[in-house]
Amino acid sequence: MKVLVVGSGGREHAISWKLAQSKHVTEIYNAPGNPGMANVGENLSLAVDDIEGIKGVCIEKGIDLVVVGPEYPLTLGLVDELTKAGIITFGPTKDASRMESSKAYAKEIMHTAGVPTASYKRFSSEQDALAYVEQEGAPIVVKADGLAAGKGVFVCQTQDEAKEGISQVFSALDSAEVVIEEMLSGVEVSYIVATDGTRVVPLATSHDYKRIFDDDQGPNTGGMGTVSPTPRMNAAQEQEVLSRVIEPVLAELRKRNTPFCGFLYAGLMVGSQGEINVIEFNARLGDPETQVILRRLKSDLFDILYPLASGADDIPQTQWISESAVCVTLASKGYPQSSHKGDVITGIETAEANASCVVFHAGTTLNPSGELVTGGGRVLSVTSLGDTLENARLQTYQACELISFDGCQYRGDIGLG
Ligand code: AMP
Ligand code: GLY
Repeated sequence: MKVLVVGSGGREHAISWKLAQSKHVTEIYNAPGNPGMANVGENLSLAVDDIEGIKGVCIEKGIDLVVVGPEYPLTLGLVDELTKAGIITFGPTKDASRMESSKAYAKEIMHTAGVPTASYKRFSSEQDALAYVEQEGAPIVVKADGLAAGKGVFVCQTQDEAKEGISQVFSALDSAEVVIEEMLSGVEVSYIVATDGTRVVPLATSHDYKRIFDDDQGPNTGGMGTVSPTPRMNAAQEQEVLSRVIEPVLAELRKRNTPFCGFLYAGLMVGSQGEINVIEFNARLGDPETQVILRRLKSDLFDILYPLASGADDIPQTQWISESAVCVTLASKGYPQSSHKGDVITGIETAEANASCVVFHAGTTLNPSGELVTGGGRVLSVTSLGDTLENARLQTYQACELISFDGCQYRGDIGLG
Protein backbone atom coordinates (compact mmCIF):
# COMPACT_ATOMS: atom_id res chain seq x y z
CA MET A 1 0.00 0.00 0.00
CA LYS A 2 1.16 3.52 -0.79
CA VAL A 3 0.63 6.25 1.79
CA LEU A 4 0.99 10.03 1.54
CA VAL A 5 1.51 12.05 4.73
CA VAL A 6 0.71 15.78 4.51
CA GLY A 7 2.86 18.04 6.70
CA SER A 8 6.43 18.72 7.72
CA GLY A 9 6.67 18.87 11.50
CA GLY A 10 7.58 16.56 14.37
CA ARG A 11 4.02 15.20 14.39
CA GLU A 12 4.22 14.23 10.72
CA HIS A 13 7.69 12.70 11.13
CA ALA A 14 6.22 10.50 13.88
CA ILE A 15 3.26 9.53 11.65
CA SER A 16 5.54 8.59 8.71
CA TRP A 17 7.96 6.77 11.02
CA LYS A 18 5.13 4.69 12.48
CA LEU A 19 3.49 3.97 9.10
CA ALA A 20 6.87 2.88 7.73
CA GLN A 21 6.77 0.02 10.26
CA SER A 22 3.42 -1.22 8.93
CA LYS A 23 3.31 -4.66 7.34
CA HIS A 24 0.95 -3.26 4.68
CA VAL A 25 2.85 -0.13 3.68
CA THR A 26 5.31 -0.46 0.81
CA GLU A 27 5.85 3.20 -0.06
CA ILE A 28 5.59 6.44 1.90
CA TYR A 29 5.48 9.92 0.40
CA ASN A 30 5.61 13.14 2.40
CA ALA A 31 4.18 16.46 1.26
CA PRO A 32 6.45 18.27 1.80
CA GLY A 33 8.20 16.40 4.65
CA ASN A 34 11.48 17.38 6.34
CA PRO A 35 15.02 15.93 6.37
CA GLY A 36 14.08 13.38 9.06
CA MET A 37 11.04 12.26 7.06
CA ALA A 38 13.28 11.74 4.03
CA ASN A 39 14.75 8.77 5.95
CA VAL A 40 11.36 7.01 6.11
CA GLY A 41 9.81 8.06 2.81
CA GLU A 42 10.17 10.20 -0.27
CA ASN A 43 9.68 13.94 0.20
CA LEU A 44 7.70 15.71 -2.51
CA SER A 45 8.04 19.43 -2.88
CA LEU A 46 4.38 20.25 -2.38
CA ALA A 47 3.06 22.80 0.10
CA VAL A 48 0.38 21.57 2.51
CA ASP A 49 -2.15 23.99 0.99
CA ASP A 50 -1.44 22.97 -2.62
CA ILE A 51 -4.68 21.04 -2.95
CA GLU A 52 -4.47 20.54 -6.71
CA GLY A 53 -0.81 19.47 -6.49
CA ILE A 54 -1.54 16.94 -3.75
CA LYS A 55 -4.54 15.56 -5.64
CA GLY A 56 -2.45 15.25 -8.81
CA VAL A 57 0.36 13.36 -7.11
CA CYS A 58 -2.11 10.98 -5.42
CA ILE A 59 -3.59 10.07 -8.80
CA GLU A 60 -0.20 9.85 -10.52
CA LYS A 61 1.35 7.61 -7.88
CA GLY A 62 -1.79 5.60 -7.07
CA ILE A 63 -1.82 6.56 -3.38
CA ASP A 64 -3.99 4.21 -1.30
CA LEU A 65 -4.26 6.37 1.83
CA VAL A 66 -3.62 10.05 2.63
CA VAL A 67 -3.08 11.10 6.25
CA VAL A 68 -3.31 14.84 6.93
CA GLY A 69 -1.23 16.24 9.82
CA PRO A 70 -1.86 19.98 10.26
CA GLU A 71 -5.15 21.88 10.58
CA TYR A 72 -4.63 24.46 7.86
CA PRO A 73 -5.21 22.22 4.80
CA LEU A 74 -8.21 20.66 6.60
CA THR A 75 -9.86 24.06 6.92
CA LEU A 76 -9.23 24.68 3.21
CA GLY A 77 -11.14 21.53 2.28
CA LEU A 78 -8.23 19.26 1.29
CA VAL A 79 -10.09 16.17 2.49
CA ASP A 80 -13.28 17.16 0.64
CA GLU A 81 -11.36 17.56 -2.62
CA LEU A 82 -9.39 14.32 -2.29
CA THR A 83 -12.49 12.37 -1.34
CA LYS A 84 -14.38 13.79 -4.32
CA ALA A 85 -11.54 12.48 -6.51
CA GLY A 86 -11.95 9.01 -4.98
CA ILE A 87 -8.76 9.15 -2.90
CA ILE A 88 -9.09 7.51 0.52
CA THR A 89 -8.13 10.14 3.09
CA PHE A 90 -7.99 10.13 6.87
CA GLY A 91 -8.98 13.57 8.13
CA PRO A 92 -12.09 15.69 8.67
CA THR A 93 -13.92 17.64 5.96
CA LYS A 94 -13.84 21.42 5.93
CA ASP A 95 -17.20 21.52 7.74
CA ALA A 96 -16.20 19.00 10.42
CA SER A 97 -12.84 20.74 10.99
CA ARG A 98 -14.78 23.77 12.22
CA MET A 99 -14.54 22.01 15.59
CA GLU A 100 -11.05 23.52 15.62
CA SER A 101 -11.28 26.48 13.26
CA SER A 102 -14.22 28.17 15.00
CA LYS A 103 -14.25 28.37 18.81
CA ALA A 104 -17.83 29.68 18.67
CA TYR A 105 -18.95 26.68 16.59
CA ALA A 106 -17.19 24.20 18.92
CA LYS A 107 -18.89 25.85 21.89
CA GLU A 108 -22.29 25.62 20.18
CA ILE A 109 -21.78 21.91 19.48
CA MET A 110 -20.67 21.27 23.06
CA HIS A 111 -23.62 23.22 24.44
CA THR A 112 -26.15 21.35 22.29
CA ALA A 113 -24.53 17.98 23.06
CA GLY A 114 -24.41 18.67 26.81
CA VAL A 115 -20.62 18.39 27.01
CA PRO A 116 -19.04 19.88 30.17
CA THR A 117 -17.17 23.08 29.29
CA ALA A 118 -16.67 26.61 30.62
CA SER A 119 -19.80 28.79 30.39
CA TYR A 120 -19.47 31.34 27.61
CA LYS A 121 -20.96 34.09 25.50
CA ARG A 122 -20.08 35.11 21.96
CA PHE A 123 -20.08 38.64 20.58
CA SER A 124 -19.66 40.19 17.16
CA SER A 125 -19.76 43.70 18.64
CA GLU A 126 -16.67 44.93 20.46
CA GLN A 127 -18.80 47.26 22.60
CA ASP A 128 -21.10 44.47 23.77
CA ALA A 129 -18.06 42.32 24.59
CA LEU A 130 -16.54 45.12 26.68
CA ALA A 131 -19.83 45.64 28.51
CA TYR A 132 -20.02 41.92 29.27
CA VAL A 133 -16.53 41.96 30.79
CA GLU A 134 -17.54 44.96 32.97
CA GLN A 135 -20.53 42.97 34.15
CA GLU A 136 -18.73 39.63 34.73
CA GLY A 137 -15.41 40.90 36.11
CA ALA A 138 -12.15 38.93 36.15
CA PRO A 139 -10.60 36.39 35.97
CA ILE A 140 -12.02 35.67 32.54
CA VAL A 141 -10.87 34.19 29.23
CA VAL A 142 -11.08 35.98 25.86
CA LYS A 143 -10.75 34.02 22.60
CA ALA A 144 -10.70 35.01 18.94
CA ASP A 145 -13.20 32.90 17.02
CA GLY A 146 -10.93 31.64 14.22
CA LEU A 147 -7.53 29.94 13.89
CA ALA A 148 -4.88 32.25 15.34
CA ALA A 149 -1.80 30.03 15.55
CA GLY A 150 -1.94 29.94 19.35
CA LYS A 151 -2.13 33.75 19.61
CA GLY A 152 -5.91 34.08 19.91
CA VAL A 153 -6.43 33.16 23.57
CA PHE A 154 -6.08 35.63 26.44
CA VAL A 155 -6.32 34.19 29.94
CA CYS A 156 -6.97 37.38 31.91
CA GLN A 157 -6.54 38.01 35.61
CA THR A 158 -7.93 41.56 35.42
CA GLN A 159 -10.69 43.40 33.56
CA ASP A 160 -8.08 45.63 31.90
CA GLU A 161 -6.29 42.59 30.45
CA ALA A 162 -9.63 41.29 29.18
CA LYS A 163 -10.45 44.62 27.53
CA GLU A 164 -7.03 44.68 25.91
CA GLY A 165 -7.61 41.10 24.73
CA ILE A 166 -10.97 42.03 23.17
CA SER A 167 -9.38 44.93 21.33
CA GLN A 168 -6.62 42.62 20.02
CA VAL A 169 -9.20 40.11 18.82
CA PHE A 170 -11.07 42.68 16.76
CA SER A 171 -8.07 44.74 15.58
CA ALA A 172 -4.74 42.86 15.38
CA LEU A 173 -6.36 39.46 14.81
CA ASP A 174 -9.16 40.84 12.65
CA SER A 175 -11.67 38.36 14.04
CA ALA A 176 -15.38 38.84 13.35
CA GLU A 177 -16.35 37.31 16.68
CA VAL A 178 -15.03 36.91 20.19
CA VAL A 179 -15.83 34.15 22.68
CA ILE A 180 -15.65 35.15 26.34
CA GLU A 181 -15.68 32.36 28.87
CA GLU A 182 -15.33 31.42 32.49
CA MET A 183 -11.79 30.65 33.64
CA LEU A 184 -11.29 27.02 34.57
CA SER A 185 -8.64 25.84 36.99
CA GLY A 186 -6.83 22.54 37.27
CA VAL A 187 -4.36 20.58 35.16
CA GLU A 188 -4.56 20.08 31.40
CA VAL A 189 -4.78 16.73 29.62
CA SER A 190 -4.82 15.89 25.90
CA TYR A 191 -7.26 13.17 24.92
CA ILE A 192 -7.27 12.10 21.28
CA VAL A 193 -9.29 9.51 19.40
CA ALA A 194 -9.21 8.24 15.82
CA THR A 195 -12.75 7.99 14.46
CA ASP A 196 -14.83 7.64 11.32
CA GLY A 197 -17.63 9.59 12.94
CA THR A 198 -19.20 6.52 14.56
CA ARG A 199 -16.46 4.03 15.43
CA VAL A 200 -13.94 5.29 17.96
CA VAL A 201 -10.37 4.12 18.56
CA PRO A 202 -9.11 5.83 21.73
CA LEU A 203 -5.43 6.73 21.71
CA ALA A 204 -3.21 6.80 24.79
CA THR A 205 -3.59 9.78 27.14
CA SER A 206 -0.94 12.50 27.31
CA HIS A 207 -0.30 16.02 28.51
CA ASP A 208 1.83 18.77 27.10
CA TYR A 209 3.76 21.77 28.38
CA LYS A 210 2.83 24.89 26.47
CA ARG A 211 4.96 27.63 28.05
CA ILE A 212 8.53 28.26 26.96
CA PHE A 213 10.18 28.21 30.40
CA ASP A 214 10.28 25.79 33.35
CA ASP A 215 7.43 25.98 35.89
CA ASP A 216 5.08 27.13 33.12
CA GLN A 217 6.62 30.57 32.88
CA GLY A 218 6.89 32.83 29.83
CA PRO A 219 4.85 32.97 26.65
CA ASN A 220 2.87 30.14 25.09
CA THR A 221 4.50 27.99 22.41
CA GLY A 222 3.36 25.21 20.11
CA GLY A 223 4.39 22.73 22.84
CA MET A 224 7.72 22.25 24.64
CA GLY A 225 7.25 18.65 25.70
CA THR A 226 4.81 15.84 26.40
CA VAL A 227 4.40 12.67 28.43
CA SER A 228 2.27 9.58 27.82
CA PRO A 229 0.42 8.14 29.62
CA THR A 230 -0.44 11.16 31.72
CA PRO A 231 -0.53 10.58 35.49
CA ARG A 232 -3.17 13.33 35.56
CA MET A 233 -6.03 11.05 34.47
CA ASN A 234 -7.11 7.56 35.52
CA ALA A 235 -8.93 4.83 33.57
CA ALA A 236 -12.34 5.74 34.99
CA GLN A 237 -11.87 9.34 33.89
CA GLU A 238 -10.87 8.17 30.41
CA GLN A 239 -14.17 6.29 30.19
CA GLU A 240 -15.97 9.39 31.38
CA VAL A 241 -14.35 11.47 28.62
CA LEU A 242 -15.42 8.91 26.03
CA SER A 243 -19.03 8.80 27.21
CA ARG A 244 -19.56 12.45 28.19
CA VAL A 245 -17.37 14.23 25.63
CA ILE A 246 -16.37 12.21 22.58
CA GLU A 247 -19.56 10.19 21.96
CA PRO A 248 -22.02 13.11 22.36
CA VAL A 249 -19.93 15.40 20.11
CA LEU A 250 -19.68 12.75 17.39
CA ALA A 251 -23.42 12.10 17.66
CA GLU A 252 -24.21 15.82 17.35
CA LEU A 253 -21.95 16.14 14.28
CA ARG A 254 -23.64 13.11 12.69
CA LYS A 255 -27.02 14.70 13.39
CA ARG A 256 -25.89 17.84 11.55
CA ASN A 257 -24.73 15.79 8.56
CA THR A 258 -21.11 16.70 9.14
CA PRO A 259 -19.73 13.44 10.57
CA PHE A 260 -16.19 13.76 11.87
CA CYS A 261 -13.67 11.37 10.34
CA GLY A 262 -10.11 11.87 11.54
CA PHE A 263 -8.27 12.52 14.77
CA LEU A 264 -10.46 14.36 17.27
CA TYR A 265 -8.42 15.97 20.04
CA ALA A 266 -10.10 17.17 23.22
CA GLY A 267 -8.04 19.61 25.30
CA LEU A 268 -9.30 19.01 28.84
CA MET A 269 -9.05 20.70 32.21
CA VAL A 270 -9.13 18.30 35.16
CA GLY A 271 -10.16 20.15 38.33
CA SER A 272 -9.02 19.49 41.89
CA GLN A 273 -12.04 17.23 42.54
CA GLY A 274 -11.39 15.26 39.35
CA GLU A 275 -14.10 17.12 37.41
CA ILE A 276 -13.50 17.31 33.67
CA ASN A 277 -14.23 20.22 31.35
CA VAL A 278 -13.35 20.68 27.70
CA ILE A 279 -11.13 23.68 26.95
CA GLU A 280 -11.05 23.24 23.20
CA PHE A 281 -11.18 20.76 20.35
CA ASN A 282 -8.60 20.24 17.63
CA ALA A 283 -9.39 18.45 14.39
CA ARG A 284 -6.00 16.71 14.21
CA LEU A 285 -3.33 15.00 16.27
CA GLY A 286 -1.43 17.15 18.78
CA ASP A 287 2.17 18.18 18.29
CA PRO A 288 4.17 17.03 20.28
CA GLU A 289 1.52 14.68 21.75
CA THR A 290 1.78 12.46 18.65
CA GLN A 291 5.46 11.86 19.24
CA VAL A 292 4.85 10.20 22.63
CA ILE A 293 1.57 8.50 21.67
CA LEU A 294 3.01 6.81 18.57
CA ARG A 295 6.15 5.75 20.44
CA ARG A 296 3.79 3.75 22.68
CA LEU A 297 1.53 2.33 19.98
CA LYS A 298 2.33 -1.37 19.51
CA SER A 299 -0.36 -1.92 16.84
CA ASP A 300 0.07 -1.25 13.16
CA LEU A 301 -1.13 2.36 12.58
CA PHE A 302 -2.30 1.53 9.05
CA ASP A 303 -4.60 -1.16 10.53
CA ILE A 304 -6.37 1.62 12.45
CA LEU A 305 -6.46 4.43 9.89
CA TYR A 306 -7.25 2.55 6.70
CA PRO A 307 -10.49 0.89 7.91
CA LEU A 308 -11.67 4.17 9.44
CA ALA A 309 -10.96 6.12 6.25
CA SER A 310 -12.26 3.50 3.82
CA GLY A 311 -15.22 2.12 5.76
CA ALA A 312 -13.69 -1.38 5.90
CA ASP A 313 -15.03 -3.61 8.64
CA ASP A 314 -12.27 -4.77 10.90
CA ILE A 315 -10.21 -2.66 13.24
CA PRO A 316 -8.04 -4.92 15.38
CA GLN A 317 -7.90 -4.29 19.14
CA THR A 318 -5.31 -1.55 19.74
CA GLN A 319 -2.22 -2.64 21.66
CA TRP A 320 -0.02 -0.24 23.65
CA ILE A 321 3.48 -0.53 25.06
CA SER A 322 3.07 -0.28 28.83
CA GLU A 323 6.19 1.85 29.24
CA SER A 324 6.05 5.65 29.59
CA ALA A 325 7.22 7.99 26.87
CA VAL A 326 8.63 11.50 27.30
CA CYS A 327 9.25 14.04 24.55
CA VAL A 328 11.36 17.18 24.97
CA THR A 329 11.27 19.91 22.31
CA LEU A 330 14.62 21.44 21.37
CA ALA A 331 13.89 24.98 20.14
CA SER A 332 16.02 27.47 18.26
CA LYS A 333 17.36 30.77 19.54
CA GLY A 334 14.64 33.42 19.95
CA TYR A 335 11.67 31.01 20.01
CA PRO A 336 8.73 31.65 20.43
CA GLN A 337 8.98 35.34 19.45
CA SER A 338 11.17 34.44 16.47
CA SER A 339 13.25 31.51 15.27
CA HIS A 340 16.84 31.23 14.14
CA LYS A 341 17.72 29.43 10.97
CA GLY A 342 20.98 27.94 9.74
CA ASP A 343 22.55 26.70 13.00
CA VAL A 344 24.31 23.37 12.42
CA ILE A 345 22.82 20.45 14.37
CA THR A 346 25.04 17.63 15.66
CA GLY A 347 24.64 14.57 17.86
CA ILE A 348 21.36 13.01 16.67
CA GLU A 349 23.02 9.71 15.71
CA THR A 350 24.85 9.53 19.03
CA ALA A 351 21.59 10.14 20.89
CA GLU A 352 19.79 7.47 18.85
CA ALA A 353 22.55 4.92 19.55
CA ASN A 354 20.51 4.32 22.70
CA ALA A 355 17.70 2.10 21.38
CA SER A 356 15.19 3.80 23.66
CA CYS A 357 15.65 7.15 21.90
CA VAL A 358 14.02 8.38 18.69
CA VAL A 359 14.60 11.95 17.51
CA PHE A 360 11.81 13.36 15.33
CA HIS A 361 12.63 16.33 13.12
CA ALA A 362 10.39 19.42 13.22
CA GLY A 363 12.08 22.66 12.09
CA THR A 364 15.16 21.25 10.36
CA THR A 365 16.54 21.75 6.88
CA LEU A 366 19.72 21.11 4.90
CA ASN A 367 22.10 23.97 4.09
CA PRO A 368 23.81 24.25 0.68
CA SER A 369 26.69 22.09 2.00
CA GLY A 370 24.21 19.35 2.91
CA GLU A 371 24.57 19.87 6.66
CA LEU A 372 21.52 19.51 8.90
CA VAL A 373 20.64 22.97 10.26
CA THR A 374 17.83 24.68 12.17
CA GLY A 375 14.97 25.82 9.99
CA GLY A 376 12.22 26.84 12.41
CA GLY A 377 11.24 27.48 16.03
CA ARG A 378 10.69 23.96 17.29
CA VAL A 379 13.65 22.09 15.82
CA LEU A 380 13.63 18.53 17.19
CA SER A 381 11.37 16.30 19.30
CA VAL A 382 13.60 14.06 21.40
CA THR A 383 11.68 11.02 22.70
CA SER A 384 12.52 8.05 24.92
CA LEU A 385 10.68 5.20 26.56
CA GLY A 386 11.23 4.03 30.14
CA ASP A 387 9.70 1.49 32.50
CA THR A 388 8.62 4.44 34.66
CA LEU A 389 7.91 8.06 33.81
CA GLU A 390 11.04 9.04 35.74
CA ASN A 391 13.23 6.64 33.73
CA ALA A 392 11.74 7.85 30.44
CA ARG A 393 12.49 11.38 31.59
CA LEU A 394 16.10 10.56 32.48
CA GLN A 395 16.70 8.79 29.15
CA THR A 396 15.21 11.70 27.20
CA TYR A 397 17.31 14.29 28.98
CA GLN A 398 20.48 12.20 28.51
CA ALA A 399 19.73 12.19 24.79
CA CYS A 400 19.09 15.96 24.76
CA GLU A 401 22.53 16.55 26.24
CA LEU A 402 24.14 14.72 23.32
CA ILE A 403 22.52 16.96 20.70
CA SER A 404 23.72 20.49 20.09
CA PHE A 405 23.21 23.54 17.94
CA ASP A 406 23.89 27.19 18.58
CA GLY A 407 21.19 28.76 20.76
CA CYS A 408 19.47 25.42 21.56
CA GLN A 409 16.91 25.87 24.33
CA TYR A 410 14.67 23.36 26.10
CA ARG A 411 12.73 22.98 29.31
CA GLY A 412 14.25 20.97 32.15
CA ASP A 413 11.02 20.00 33.88
CA ILE A 414 9.10 17.95 31.30
CA GLY A 415 7.44 15.05 33.12
CA LEU A 416 7.97 16.50 36.59
CA GLY A 417 4.47 17.80 37.28
P1 AMP B 1 -6.97 27.00 23.50
O1 AMP B 1 -6.33 27.54 22.24
O2 AMP B 1 -8.45 27.20 23.56
O3 AMP B 1 -6.50 25.61 23.83
O4 AMP B 1 -6.32 27.84 24.68
C1 AMP B 1 -4.93 27.90 24.89
C2 AMP B 1 -4.64 27.74 26.35
O5 AMP B 1 -5.33 28.76 27.10
C3 AMP B 1 -5.14 26.44 26.93
O6 AMP B 1 -4.24 25.40 26.75
C4 AMP B 1 -5.30 26.80 28.39
O7 AMP B 1 -4.04 26.77 29.04
C5 AMP B 1 -5.77 28.23 28.34
N1 AMP B 1 -7.24 28.32 28.41
C6 AMP B 1 -8.10 28.33 27.38
N2 AMP B 1 -9.38 28.39 27.82
C7 AMP B 1 -9.32 28.42 29.18
C8 AMP B 1 -10.29 28.50 30.22
N3 AMP B 1 -11.60 28.58 29.98
N4 AMP B 1 -9.85 28.50 31.50
C9 AMP B 1 -8.53 28.45 31.78
N5 AMP B 1 -7.56 28.40 30.85
C10 AMP B 1 -7.95 28.37 29.56
N1 GLY C 1 0.32 20.51 21.62
C1 GLY C 1 -0.89 21.21 21.43
C2 GLY C 1 -1.46 21.13 20.09
O1 GLY C 1 -1.04 20.37 19.24
O2 GLY C 1 -2.44 21.85 19.84
